[in-house]
Amino acid sequence: MNIIIMGPPGAGKGTQAEKMTKDFALLHISTGDIFRNAVKEGTEMGKKAKEYMDKGLLVPDEIVVGIVKERLSRPDSKEGLLLDGFPRTVEQAEALDKVMQELELKINAVISVDVNEEELISRLTARRVCRNCGANFNLKYNPPKVRNICDHCSGELYHRDDDTIDTVKERLDIYNKQTLPMIEYYRQKNLYFSVDGAQQINQVYAAIKAYLEKLKNK
Ligand code: AP5
Ligand code: MG
Repeated sequence: MNIIIMGPPGAGKGTQAEKMTKDFALLHISTGDIFRNAVKEGTEMGKKAKEYMDKGLLVPDEIVVGIVKERLSRPDSKEGLLLDGFPRTVEQAEALDKVMQELELKINAVISVDVNEEELISRLTARRVCRNCGANFNLKYNPPKVRNICDHCSGELYHRDDDTIDTVKERLDIYNKQTLPMIEYYRQKNLYFSVDGAQQINQVYAAIKAYLEKLKNK
């Protein structure tokens, strides 16, 4: 199965992806994580991407499409994919279709996690991420057992540079303008499935899991 998970910043894409990859043996490809790793490693691409990310803007298509294309061309991409944060525009969705066709792969479903803006702002300003393993926590809804320490690997937790209130608002604006039109693209292809992301983490996952089980047995 090749799945896309989409939704506004803070909807819980990464949180749900962690669970989905375990239960359905999917390879998690998050363009946001790829960029953050490149920033950490100080590569040229990372420096370029950071200029956009810090402002809450989308990284230009020529960078992001190239990265995804390279990643999908590796042999481990044949076993089942979970694309998180890509595509984010109709143009990226069209570019993905082309790449998938070249690789003789196809998208089976697009899961959209939907949450209202007030809740998204509240989640992102309280999010903490592990510097070491990337696990997600939330000071309000999903706190670590020990303050600032990852439950899984004891790594240090940090607050993402783009999780300040002004940047979050810009990211939401960009989502509404540039990503929402993509829904119609996938609706027309009969691939779109929306889930209420305002429920508790396990309830959101129960809905996604039931949908994927059905899809798998089709
Ligand atoms: P990216 O890293 O993809 O960020 P995003 O889309 O803004 O989404 P987030 O990662 O912030 O949120 P999430 O939905 O994963 O939520 P999470 O599970 O962490 O992209 C970052 C930047 O990279 C972009 O702005 C852009 O610049 C660039 N970029 C990336 N892809 C690109 C592309 N394709 N094209 C161009 N540029 C691109 O959850 C959030 C918090 O809420 C956590 O604390 C979590 O614990 C908590 N939480 C989760 N679910 C629940 C729940 N149900 N109830 C309560 N709390 C919850
Ligand atoms: Mg994420």
